[in-house]
Amino acid sequence: MASPLAPALAELRALLLDGDRLVRAVASGRMRNMAPPWRRVELRPVALKAGPHLQTVAYDDRQAHTSNAAFGPAAEKAVDDLLALGMGNWHVETLGTTMQVRITKKGEAMVSRTAAAAPNERTLDHDRAKQRLLDPADPFWRAVGIADAEGRIKPTRQDKYRQVEEFIRALDAVLKGAVFPGDRPLRVVDLGCGNAYLTFAAYRFLSHVRGLDVDFTGVDTKRQARERNSELATGLGWNGLHFIEGTIADAPVDGADIVLALHACDTATDDALARAVAWGAKYVLAAPCCHHDLQKQLRGGEAPAAYGLLTRHGILRERFADMLTDALRASLMRQAGYRTEIIEFVPSEHTPRNTLLRAVRTGVKPDAAALTEYQTLVKEWSVTPKLSTLLAADAGF
Ligand SMILES: C[S@@+](CC[C@H](N)C(=O)[O-])C[C@H]1O[C@@H](n2cnc3c(N)ncnc32)[C@H](O)[C@@H]1O
Repeated sequence: MASPLAPALAELRALLLDGDRLVRAVASGRMRNMAPPWRRVELRPVALKAGPHLQTVAYDDRQAHTSNAAFGPAAEKAVDDLLALGMGNWHVETLGTTMQVRITKKGEAMVSRTAAAAPNERTLDHDRAKQRLLDPADPFWRAVGIADAEGRIKPTRQDKYRQVEEFIRALDAVLKGAVFPGDRPLRVVDLGCGNAYLTFAAYRFLSHVRGLDVDFTGVDTKRQARERNSELATGLGWNGLHFIEGTIADAPVDGADIVLALHACDTATDDALARAVAWGAKYVLAAPCCHHDLQKQLRGGEAPAAYGLLTRHGILRERFADMLTDALRASLMRQAGYRTEIIEFVPSEHTPRNTLLRAVRTGVKPDAAALTEYQTLVKEWSVTPKLSTLLAADAGF
């Protein structure tokens, strides 16, 4: 039931400023007639050398902006400034309770409060990466070959472990507040799954940590991958996890709510994005791998006047092609009705291929200016992104 806004915000403010009990909070959306500069803001207490601080990570369409304010007047100002921005939804976890506030079009508050079944976990470590979403000692890491017999992550597998952990963190973040189908399992697909480290970890996270009923499929062209991964899934007794041998474009998968792709080679990422669009997947997370397609097109064509220096040297052309490819992919996903962002999902020391295209289907198409922006860019550089060809082949696009 709706209630007056001011007392709800006052309660919210008190929870956010309770440095002894706050676990984390997320604000998203916007109130009617308000235009907050952030898409999403996450808050959590952190223990810094200078004492306990409230950490704020604010996301716009391009990047995350982190700031820390000492609990006391500085944190009060940070919270008051944030509350004044007019974010529309709040999710606040404290040690014992979770409070959710949605602000209606009429400017009233829809509030729900739930007692945590188990105390919400609180970590004050400044290094977010140390807040593990999956226990490194979980036996499945050993089964897939990431951990040794003693349950320690193998030194040679540390990078893959961090990629997977951070990929899942990006998945977890985008799923906060998501409503899942109640009448059937959540369908998740990992395209180009290879040895399926991500597949197993994401299945574990969604089904056992988040407690969702999941129908999860890993797809790869390699028969050996399908046989090995299926055997491992059976050995773990994970009945909702299946593997298919086939191409991303054609594998017999009926549909998906969530599409994942970690380092699907070259244009296989485009295949994954196009398949996700064709399925109408709600969430798409794709960390691209090598980008040869536009590199070749740039090598064979003329750069627009004044931009020749960008592509004259091989290494710069390679890096520029990476940027151009992902910028155009993001634009095409927007044109397909997805709110899309490109983020760095893991520090570069764990892989140079550390960008992640994260898209949420909203059905909202971009305005004419955004289309013109895209068309101008492809025309000036004389390139045809693979994804545009794949999406154009889909009559619905
Ligand atoms: C670099 S590996 C990444 C594997 C896994 N996602 C990971 O990050 O550990 C790329 C995988 O994509 C698979 N692959 C590439 N193109 C594919 C396609 N068109 N259809 C299905 N699988 C594909 C390859 O067989 C390979 O296993």
